[in-house]
Amino acid sequence: MNIILLGPPGAGKGTQAKRLETERGMVQLSTGDMLRAAVKAGTPTGLKAKAVMEAGQLVSDAIVSGIIGERLDMADTEKGAIFDGYPRTYAQAESLDGLLAERGRKLDYVIELLVNEEALVDRVEGRFTCAKCGEGYHDKYKLPKADGVCDVCGSTEFKRRPDDNAETVRTRMAEYRAKTAPILPFYEEKGLVRRVDGMADIDEVTRQIAAVLDGQG
Ligand code: AP5
Repeated sequence: MNIILLGPPGAGKGTQAKRLETERGMVQLSTGDMLRAAVKAGTPTGLKAKAVMEAGQLVSDAIVSGIIGERLDMADTEKGAIFDGYPRTYAQAESLDGLLAERGRKLDYVIELLVNEEALVDRVEGRFTCAKCGEGYHDKYKLPKADGVCDVCGSTEFKRRPDDNAETVRTRMAEYRAKTAPILPFYEEKGLVRRVDGMADIDEVTRQIAAVLDGQG
């Protein structure tokens, strides 16, 4: 099964994708994570993407569709892919159709996480992760149990994304409204869109997505 998780910054795409990986053996394909890894490694792609990402704007369609194409050639994606943060433009949606068709695969669902954007700024601005194991935390909603120590691995180093400040989050939201939300009709026409309540608690969102994937949503 191949699915897209669609929603603005902080909607919970990454959170739910990780759960689907664990629970269903699908593979998370996050273009944001791939681009951040390229920036960290200082690759030519990373050098091109860094300033664009820090400004909250979209990296070029050619770069992200190229990354996804390369990733889809890896055998683990044959078990099923969760597209997290891709596609984000109409051109990317068309590219994804082509990339899947070339490999004899198809999309099963596009799951839109319905959210209240104002609440999302708070979700994104307050989040941070363990620098060692990647466990996610939040300034208000989920602090480590022992002050400054990761619950999972005991590390005392944490990091925040440079694009998680209020001003950049608002630019990312505007990019979502202008360029990403308009791709929904492309998938509506194909009958692939399902909607879940992204403002429900994390377990409830997981249940709603499971219902869709099990053909009950
Ligand atoms: P990307 O990394 O994709 O960021 P994003 O879409 O802005 O999404 P986020 O990772 O911020 O949010 P999320 O929906 O995954 O939420 P999460 O689960 O973390 O992209 C970053 C940048 O890369 C872009 O701006 C662009 O420059 C570039 N880029 C990436 N892909 C691109 C593409 N295809 N084309 C062009 N450019 C591209 O949750 C957020 C927080 O909320 C967490 O703290 C979490 O614990 C909490 N939370 C989650 N669900 C709930 C819930 N139900 N209730 C309460 N809290 C919750």
